[in-house]
Amino acid sequence: MSQATIESVLQEKRLFNPPSQFSQESHIKSMEEYQRLYDQAKADPEAFWGQLAEQELHWFQKWDQVLDWQPPFAQWFVGGKLNISYNCLDRHLTPERQDKLALIWEGEPGDSRSFTYAQLHRDVCQMANVLKQLGLKKGDRVGIYMPMIPEAAIAMLACLRIGTPHTVVFGGFSSEALKDRLLDAEAKVVITADGGWRKDAIVPLKEQVDKALAGNSVPSVHSVLVVQRTGQQIGMAPGRDHWWHDLRSGVSADCPAEPMDSEDPAFILYTSGTTGKPKGVVHATGGYNLYTHITTKWVFDLHPSDVFWCTADIGWITGHSYIVYGPLSNGATTVMYEGAPRSSNPGCMWDVVQKYRVTIFYTAPTAIRLFMKMGEHLPKARDLSSLRLLGSVGEPINPAAWMWYHRVIGGERCPIVDTWWQTETGGIMLTPLPGATPTKPGSATYPFPGIVADVVDLDGNPVGDNQGGYLVIKQPWPSMIRMVHGNPDRFRRTYWEHIPPKDGDYLYFSGDGARRDPDGYFWVMGRVDDVINVAGHRLGTMEVESSLVSHPAVAEAAVVGKPSEVKGEEIVAFITLEENYTASDTLAKELKQHVGQEIGALARPGEIKFTEGLPKTRSGKIMRRLLRSLASGQEVTGDTSTLEDRSVLDKLRGGA
Ligand code: PRX
Repeated sequence: MSQATIESVLQEKRLFNPPSQFSQESHIKSMEEYQRLYDQAKADPEAFWGQLAEQELHWFQKWDQVLDWQPPFAQWFVGGKLNISYNCLDRHLTPERQDKLALIWEGEPGDSRSFTYAQLHRDVCQMANVLKQLGLKKGDRVGIYMPMIPEAAIAMLACLRIGTPHTVVFGGFSSEALKDRLLDAEAKVVITADGGWRKDAIVPLKEQVDKALAGNSVPSVHSVLVVQRTGQQIGMAPGRDHWWHDLRSGVSADCPAEPMDSEDPAFILYTSGTTGKPKGVVHATGGYNLYTHITTKWVFDLHPSDVFWCTADIGWITGHSYIVYGPLSNGATTVMYEGAPRSSNPGCMWDVVQKYRVTIFYTAPTAIRLFMKMGEHLPKARDLSSLRLLGSVGEPINPAAWMWYHRVIGGERCPIVDTWWQTETGGIMLTPLPGATPTKPGSATYPFPGIVADVVDLDGNPVGDNQGGYLVIKQPWPSMIRMVHGNPDRFRRTYWEHIPPKDGDYLYFSGDGARRDPDGYFWVMGRVDDVINVAGHRLGTMEVESSLVSHPAVAEAAVVGKPSEVKGEEIVAFITLEENYTASDTLAKELKQHVGQEIGALARPGEIKFTEGLPKTRSGKIMRRLLRSLASGQEVTGDTSTLEDRSVLDKLRGGA
């Protein structure tokens, strides 16, 4: 967060009560009701979660034990058997609900398709049977590298139907990033499309898959299933690559859902951390299903007539939990959009709201700031009267953006839920409940019932009101990360060892800084580690640095975030060059492109600063704090006495 934003947040005093009509009709109607649920869940989490699991999900077999907590390893609904695809599809195949729209898809350029629950069930079963024909067995992993088309959701549900965990890789990641993830997950099959549409251009997804697999570089992958989307020419490797439309013809639409153990992995999703390559966050079946189900229901106050649109890409956890699994598990209608705002069609998001009479709209602050910039005449020219609830996720929302969202999009009648959570938490952790919680612009308010959150110092002691500290979670919750795939050490180190256990409670370390105000409201300030949040996307500085130093011109690289008006943060890279290379605009451009190729366009630095040296401590650690100040044009303050060579700082000041 920029200094200006922090100051505006600290002074924020406005309070918005839920509209009374909204409260009366909502699932959780008052703060008293919230408090009762919160207290119940805190006092007896097993009774609370056990009862919800029984009420809200279908189980093939009931569990023997709600929670087995051997810190930091939790098992939820031990011995229970269920299937997420069954809960999202089969149980809605009742005479009343089977013809309800499950998925509405708005594609580019101008395409649209929709699926009832019965139709979605049929397609998922067929894809599941095709995956079986390709030789997949329970426990095998599947890579999904798809544009935002219905088959992306169908592929995810098909994988879970037969017990093959998926790992979805965002379609904007490069072939290198895709390869790394497929290798780490040891995927056997990749599901992709010939291409996808992104801002009026075609993204050549299959070509990227071919590059990732070239020379048998991911030996575990034996088959690629290709969905036809754009119709462009692509190569098909004989024996390895198959068209979905070929394999599905004549395939049975009957594929019973595999009863999975509650703790069987549902999926792996890679996310950036502070060290090394992205880590594979493993989520387990039962807990994830329950938690995403109940958060969708209560946070978005879901009712049968709602049309729910979450604008995330399914390549991120938000898309997993709140486009696919949460809404479908609740039998709702979910909207999926392939497009994005762009100069050729700046009002496109509002066209979608108007066309489908969207009632709940969930997006990121970076998008809201872009909408603000594009101008309020665009939403004002559309009928947004169907909207009744708005959500925000991915980064702190600055009060100005919150107020604009409230006034222009919400017509001052829609509550806003600012939801804080992470890939690792699986579902929403801090959030208002829209019929109950009075909101303050910029605050994610209170923990969801069953979540015990606190702000502590590095020893685990709670800090006082309005004092900054580390945001931690004190009790296990159903959709918590179970493991870093293949790396229990990294799991322990990253999440459980930064802050020691306190009074017998293991503290989950989120990596975020926060404060609580005297009313107990949480204000999340952003990452306290070397993770940068660019336009709501999480990137590790190390990851970008490693990609920069893999370029022959680069000797050393240090990457920091700099506040940016629309994106929240932007990447600035400080570079020292190898001998025989000279700094130039052309080289800066080449380095940006290089990162784009290595990781993906989202990781491309906004700015490259060439320097003769990097500020380091005597033990050789780069002093990022100084670079952050320099990047954002602030005075370098604080202790600089540990600098090994002060002249480096002076030169940077002069040149930066
Ligand atoms: O820094 C927090 C920020 O996004 C991080 C998690 O990123 P990711 O795992 O990619 O998941 C994003 C979507 C859930 C967090 O550590 N973040 C997310 N939501 C908020 C937020 N920061 C402030 N307020 C939020 N509402």
